[in-house]
Amino acid sequence: SLINQAYRTGYHFQPPKNWINDPNGPMVYKGIYHFFYQYNPKGAVWGNIVWGHSTSTDLVNWTPHKPAIFPSQQADIKGCWSGSATILPGGKPMMLYTGVDSQLRQVQNLAMPKNLSDPYLTEWIKYRKNPVMAPTPKNKINASAFRDPTTAWLGPDKMWRVLVGSRVNKLGLAILYKSKDFEHWTLAEKPLHSAEATGIWECPDFFPVKIDGNKGLDTSARGKKVKYVLKNSLDETKHDYYTIGTYDAVKDEYFPDKGMIEGDSGLRYDYGKFYASKTFFDSEKQRRVLWGWANESSNVKDDVQKGWAGVQAIPRNVWLDKSGKQLLQWPIKEIEKLRGNQVKWPSKILEGGSKLEVTGVTAGQADIEVGFEVSHELEKVEVLKEKWYNPQLLCSKKSASVRGGLGPFGFLTFASNTLSEYTAIFFRIYKHHKKHKVLMCSDQSRSSLNKYNDNTTYGVFVDLDPAREQLSLKSLIDRSIVESFSGGGKAVITSRVYPTQAIDNQIKLFVFNNGTSSVKITYLNAWSMKKAQIS
Ligand code: FRU
Repeated sequence: SLINQAYRTGYHFQPPKNWINDPNGPMVYKGIYHFFYQYNPKGAVWGNIVWGHSTSTDLVNWTPHKPAIFPSQQADIKGCWSGSATILPGGKPMMLYTGVDSQLRQVQNLAMPKNLSDPYLTEWIKYRKNPVMAPTPKNKINASAFRDPTTAWLGPDKMWRVLVGSRVNKLGLAILYKSKDFEHWTLAEKPLHSAEATGIWECPDFFPVKIDGNKGLDTSARGKKVKYVLKNSLDETKHDYYTIGTYDAVKDEYFPDKGMIEGDSGLRYDYGKFYASKTFFDSEKQRRVLWGWANESSNVKDDVQKGWAGVQAIPRNVWLDKSGKQLLQWPIKEIEKLRGNQVKWPSKILEGGSKLEVTGVTAGQADIEVGFEVSHELEKVEVLKEKWYNPQLLCSKKSASVRGGLGPFGFLTFASNTLSEYTAIFFRIYKHHKKHKVLMCSDQSRSSLNKYNDNTTYGVFVDLDPAREQLSLKSLIDRSIVESFSGGGKAVITSRVYPTQAIDNQIKLFVFNNGTSSVKITYLNAWSMKKAQIS
């Protein structure tokens, strides 16, 4: 129906129809970006999984190809699950991926391009001795929890290393394998890392980051000015968590820095819908790029009816914050090519209890960036109560309609004419032990009059000092997705929404302030976003 078409994205990656999940094997080869993804060629629900494949020169516009990897061997006959690319010295890409074999065991397989002179790499062949890693009675690996190999890296002993996600009961782990030739892999004595009570680690990712600056590093890079990031996707909560730490390449152990929290209270790439993500080193632009899956918040019946499910978030540049305590993320620069008509506001005061419509852009497909200054009003902020320490619960209790002292202020996206529907992205400022705490929320409670969606509200405390800096907020809005970045990439929240009235050209966009204090808008830039060439 018309309404369902209204949710198809204009510039977020999705195939013409059917189910997609995890990003797989992202890489750049001969100047062409390759993107693969978990794909069901037969329907809008998970199943029959193959690797869909598209290529691009800019990470924005995509050319679809036929599935690259699909069941064809004993070792993957029941499914070709997630995996990663490694570019061997000399430039040959190798794909390690999880196969579900004829006995329904999860094993790791190797695939490689058939014709290296074709930059589109449309044909893939499989190593005839697959699998290259398998559970056995001797290694005691859990055959139903052994998946999602990472990009491999070279150690000081010239051996390749790769991680595979697993668990032993509730202990989550990153199993380590080593190889001299990329074909024969030996299980290491111990995992690279593990953490109690986290359950299976899906789609682990392990990569170096520079301690100074935003340049990316090759996955095999080492050095004094390098820290490491270990990310895992926790099946139980469906979020992607990471820690920052050090890596001992001789002992092959990873140590999270002091103060890093593992598991559900840890750092996340994204505090909304963003899962099974994976980075790659873009050697063309010397950056590390993050891909992640934003699944639907609608129910399965609606997914089947609309004929598709799942989109990919806009690829993000990731690098280490100068504090060393968290990562920063920002949409890749190329996405700005899609910016069309621009609206620019002079600095202005947004009084408490007021809102201003942002006209002149296509509000359902837009990019908006605003700076808020609040330092003049910090006397009036509320005190953060102890029972409010969980930011997500605090955001859902104090939705956008609940007036506060300083905040809520931010955007009303996907707003209908009468405000019967809106998705609010906002800040609230609190006082806490003589300091300030900045809460960022994405409130979906009023996103749709259709009750059959998951309208969970998301929230996070952002490491910003409102006495000394402006609070910046940016949202990429695209028909059924809004990705919001605060503090220049310190916190990110992605939401999926399905309005029934705020659709197509009925969608409005506002800047609002529902606090009692005023806030100053220091700048506002908004752009209509053009459609990307995707399918
Ligand atoms: C994560 C995941 C992976 C698996 C794939 C199957 O979403 O469950 O662990 O490889 O999806 O499609």
